[in-house]
Amino acid sequence: MDQPRRSGLGRERFLRLSAAAGGAAVLGGLPRSASATVPLHCAPPTPPGPPTPWAGDSRAIQTRPSAYALSAAYLTKLQNAYAAMRALPATDGRSFRAQANIHGWWCGGCGDGMMAPGGGIHYKWTFFLWHRAYLYFHEKILGKLIGDPTFRLPYWDWDNPAHLVMPSGFTTPGSSSNSLYNGTRALGASTPLPAAGVNAATMSAIYALTAWDPFGGNPGSGGAVENQPHGYVHVMVGGDMGAFSTAAQDPIFYAHHCNVDRVWAHWKDNLTPARPNPPPGYFGSTAWPFYDENKNWVSIKPSDVLDHEAQLRYRYTGGLILRTPFPHFTIGPFRTPFPLHTVPIIYQQLPPFTIPGPDPVFRVLPEQRSKVLASARAGQRIAIGFQNITIPQGVSGIIDIRSDGQVIGYLAIVPDSPDGTSMHPIHATAVVEVTAVAERMFAANAAPKLTLSPQAGGRQFAPVPLRAAQAHIVAF
Ligand code: C2O
Repeated sequence: MDQPRRSGLGRERFLRLSAAAGGAAVLGGLPRSASATVPLHCAPPTPPGPPTPWAGDSRAIQTRPSAYALSAAYLTKLQNAYAAMRALPATDGRSFRAQANIHGWWCGGCGDGMMAPGGGIHYKWTFFLWHRAYLYFHEKILGKLIGDPTFRLPYWDWDNPAHLVMPSGFTTPGSSSNSLYNGTRALGASTPLPAAGVNAATMSAIYALTAWDPFGGNPGSGGAVENQPHGYVHVMVGGDMGAFSTAAQDPIFYAHHCNVDRVWAHWKDNLTPARPNPPPGYFGSTAWPFYDENKNWVSIKPSDVLDHEAQLRYRYTGGLILRTPFPHFTIGPFRTPFPLHTVPIIYQQLPPFTIPGPDPVFRVLPEQRSKVLASARAGQRIAIGFQNITIPQGVSGIIDIRSDGQVIGYLAIVPDSPDGTSMHPIHATAVVEVTAVAERMFAANAAPKLTLSPQAGGRQFAPVPLRAAQAHIVAF
């Protein structure tokens, strides 16, 4: 089996594209790359011409299954499909390598994809939509390769506390005879993801969000899901998965993102009050080109992917797994965003030390304090969402968010490149449950303060104040 491997040197191997190399000058909808210098592991797609608009889909709706619930026959289909995809030459836009590179290209690890119209598919509103479109075409290619249009991708439902270990089909056998295996992972085949990062409390706080922006991001910042659990799983699986430019070279990537997509679907469809779509005002003229299962170069728009079932012809099984007992989405009166003011967060170096200077606290009005405390004492859970946290370029890994020394959540920043760097500052959202520290945090004279310190894979960085543009409190 020809298992694609990225160069261990990442950025040091470059592919010099030239117009003579063919195709690069006719990137329909993409900027010309004739003189661009792009790392080999995320070369751009080289389409045959301008994309044709996606024509819609009228196949029968099929169910995407949990990767934990695959029959032997389904697993064989999945393995055969990936084996066939890996067997295609890299020059074929449907090949495993080309599929992985499409993600690498758009992720910004290569620079140019960031600049394309609609570019930037992480840490902004495009995150859920672009990845949904990408999986859709990927899934159709896999189905075509095994001659089965009913084929649908499985999801790795890490939101189920019993499913924190990678699904066994992706790890066993642990050799290149298994098309779902990837030998670069840091997470062991039988090691669960740390429950602290992906758990029912995290999911409950996320599902309690009722507005799109904190959930799914806006033009200036990613939403909560993208940070934790999404980024957390990337960093903890590690290896190729640990950097955006290589992540899609691991088949577990697609099962991971299938579950991210399922979280969106559940949030949108299964909660009360009904959750909104992203505001159409964000879309502009955004359209993303992909190869379809027939090697046609087609473009799909954000509005084409909002209803996964009606438009893209799949549905999900499996209910929401939430912290129990889960209260019924009673949103406290202080859910209203705080008046817009900067919420500075202390950024700590390892070993931790306190940055001197003006005390970076977030202001909470006395009546807000008493409402929060009353709700907490009445048994509600309390979460704080910080939107648009600016994370400096070059910072990546798992970073603890602490309140008075106690870890209350994480920032999980996936680097663009395997060498751990990011090409640009990141704007993220973190929603952290603070029920356990609410008494202290919201006591009459407390100055609520958060500190960040690198944990697993956290890279060293100079102490800088992080800034969040907005904070809000949710009681649920
Ligand atoms: Cu485009 Cu999970 O990454």
